[in-house]
Amino acid sequence: IAANQAEQHGWHLYLVGGAVRDLLLTDSDQPVMLTDIDLVVDGFHRSADVGAGVELARSLQRLYPDVRLDIHGRFQTAALLWHKDPTFDSLWVDIATARTEFYPYPAANPEVEASSIRQDLYRRDFTINAMALRLTNPRFADTRKGPGELLDFFGGSLDLQAKQIRVLHPNSFIEDPTRIYRAVRFATRLGFEIEPQTERYIRHAIASGIYEQIQDRQVAGRVIAPALQTRLKSELKYILQSSYWKAALNQLAHLGALRCIHPKLELDDELRWQLRSADRWLHRLDRSQLLPSWQLLLEVLIAHLAPDDRASVAQNLQLSADGIDRLVQLEPVRSKLESLSISLSPSQIVQYLKPYELPLLILVAVKSSRAIRKQIWRYLTIWSTVKPPLDGNDLKALGYKPGRQFKQILDDLLSATLDGRVHDRAEAEAYLAQ
Ligand code: CTP
Repeated sequence: IAANQAEQHGWHLYLVGGAVRDLLLTDSDQPVMLTDIDLVVDGFHRSADVGAGVELARSLQRLYPDVRLDIHGRFQTAALLWHKDPTFDSLWVDIATARTEFYPYPAANPEVEASSIRQDLYRRDFTINAMALRLTNPRFADTRKGPGELLDFFGGSLDLQAKQIRVLHPNSFIEDPTRIYRAVRFATRLGFEIEPQTERYIRHAIASGIYEQIQDRQVAGRVIAPALQTRLKSELKYILQSSYWKAALNQLAHLGALRCIHPKLELDDELRWQLRSADRWLHRLDRSQLLPSWQLLLEVLIAHLAPDDRASVAQNLQLSADGIDRLVQLEPVRSKLESLSISLSPSQIVQYLKPYELPLLILVAVKSSRAIRKQIWRYLTIWSTVKPPLDGNDLKALGYKPGRQFKQILDDLLSATLDGRVHDRAEAEAYLAQ
């Protein structure tokens, strides 16, 4: 339908990027579930203010009024969202305009037509992501170039076969350092290798100090979050929420790319252990709905830095206010707990830990001594769930008058239960009678 609309305007439409890669990687008899696709329109719109991509998105929205339309940038890209329904996953369609604005009559001849989409693809990250599938008929009838023709100018399909991640030009990582993270993400996700010359470009970009570009820039105390930071965070999110996060972090560390987060961040054995245990705790406590595990892992990574560096790195990466707060609280809470005597009773430990929420306690636990960690684990799995054998109604039935003392009595009963002095209702009543 989008191709029909484009053809009515005399434009060309291409499927580009990850969807083409994934289609080529999938066996032809397997259905491909695409949830996010990128289209590029090669065409010229008479309005100086609106790109052909935006105009195409608007005509699609006229056909499907329930679809959400967002327009990004001044006039070049549009995103359409088809909402999830029972038979259909939600689908994002990004529509961009190929850079044809230099040509007064775009697609005026086949060379211009090819060069415009070629230029668009050449700006992309890796050969495997720089292929296009033509969705429209070419203006200049050529039976080899109907809809479905694969445009592969840079050897993407060969690299797919050879399982190689290869950049298109030497400056790619200097122009966009987050591509270092993307290279690792695709390599680990697809089981590909980063091609040796591409790896040299990555190392060169890192050696040239490119990571400084991503780190904090403060103007009069205000942290500026440049677009690079946003993209780095979304790459980190992608990696940390995947099943291959451990392999990806190892490869990022091997390339020296964790410097993009902070020059002193190193993936040593201690950090590896902390990441694994935080992940295990979250899953064993079955609370990943409370805090997505990628967020907790990112906080553990940042918590490996010196306490004074944590908040600024967290701000630069635009962590949630809660996340920043946890990283600030971590050190005081941890040292307060470490200073406690290990002979505290369960009720005293509950008293100490009660004010803190689970995500902070997990962060503290993975950064603490074994003794403290054990107490936090017991608190989370046993002591925080204990209830006294009597409740408010029981107290009323025993003749106690409701009021402020109720809470005190119930708290005392809870402590006695936690510390093993009271086990059941009879013992609780006897305890109250003392
Ligand atoms: N792209 C790029 N450089 C970036 C980010 C994206 O060149 N830093 C290009 C690539 O051509 C990529 C396309 O934009 O294929 C779409 O980006 P994105 O949706 O982030 O990635 P996908 O390749 O679609 O991968 P995924 O399946 O993981 O979403």
